[in-house]
Amino acid sequence: MDRFLTADDLAKTLRRDVREGLTGTPKTLPPKWFYDERGSALFEEITALEEYYPTRREREILTARAPEIAAATGARTLLELGAGSGEKTRLLLDALSGTLRSYVPVDVSGDFLEEAAAGIAADHPGLAVRAVVADYEQHLPLLPGGERRLVAFLGGTIGNMPPAERIGFLGGVRATMGDGDFLLLGADLVKDPGRLVRAYDDAAGVTAEFNRNVLYVINRELDADFDPEAFEHVALWNEAEEWIEMRLRSVRDQRVRVGGLDLEVSFAAGEETRTEISAKFRRERLDAELGAAGMAVAAFWTDPGGDFSLTLARPAD
Ligand code: SAH
Ligand code: AVI
Repeated sequence: MDRFLTADDLAKTLRRDVREGLTGTPKTLPPKWFYDERGSALFEEITALEEYYPTRREREILTARAPEIAAATGARTLLELGAGSGEKTRLLLDALSGTLRSYVPVDVSGDFLEEAAAGIAADHPGLAVRAVVADYEQHLPLLPGGERRLVAFLGGTIGNMPPAERIGFLGGVRATMGDGDFLLLGADLVKDPGRLVRAYDDAAGVTAEFNRNVLYVINRELDADFDPEAFEHVALWNEAEEWIEMRLRSVRDQRVRVGGLDLEVSFAAGEETRTEISAKFRRERLDAELGAAGMAVAAFWTDPGGDFSLTLARPAD
């Protein structure tokens, strides 16, 4: 396993993000910090919830289209950004078995990644599996190159970036691509707001716990004294931006000490801290953003119900 992100880098970035996010107005925290080992496990639990359709829908598309993706790309290397458990990716690995030589899963959640990669390596003897702990917002240029690469960014994680960051990110991916490389991008689509909100506010409260996990991470890593139960999970549909927002609402006036930053933060009763956006797309927006990043759409697929999309893109001529 390669580590471009040392414990030291992580600590530095977390300190900066928490200081900026909790001293700004309104308060925000970036979603990257949900994912320690517990957060990654909670996300896996979310993917199995009745209300959370994206994983099931993307798996349906991959099941139907993996052979076409394999034929179109003939990939030798599969580089997966924000790979998580890599469970759906197994469909691609199987379809690509004729040409694929190496699988490079990339994630910030190092321990979870290591376990997932070991499981995949054990099930695919002959495939070189090289897990990389890295931040795809910082380390794209450092990731392994090679001929005929398929870069996969699944799950709709692109939607967790604010629009400006998303454009920069797609440009960064494009800059690493040569002729013969492809990007496979999973993106959730705009739909009935009721279904969207339920997907982010499940009845069993798993998403609420996932949301509060960022407070446990800050307590542990930055010696803070958040009482996670003093923050309520909020999920709402922002119609103008066409994204879901997750927030943590303070249930009372409270002060939190973040020892590692020598910082005291006040929260008013009812004050909300935004912890995630999850943008939902229309096809035109995906085409336009990929085009602006110098890529052309080679194929666009959805599940039969039109809930979720997979786009295969290549460098534009
Ligand atoms: N691709 C998987 C997991 C999606 S969850 C799926 O489709 O189910 C999002 C994943 O991205 C998590 O595993 C998280 O740890 C990772 N992640 C979030 N921000 C990241 C960043 N900046 N750099 C690298 N990985 C990141
Ligand atoms: C990883 N990402 C695509 C998930 C999403 O749907 O935006 C994260 C998530 N947040 C709440 N539930 C799942």
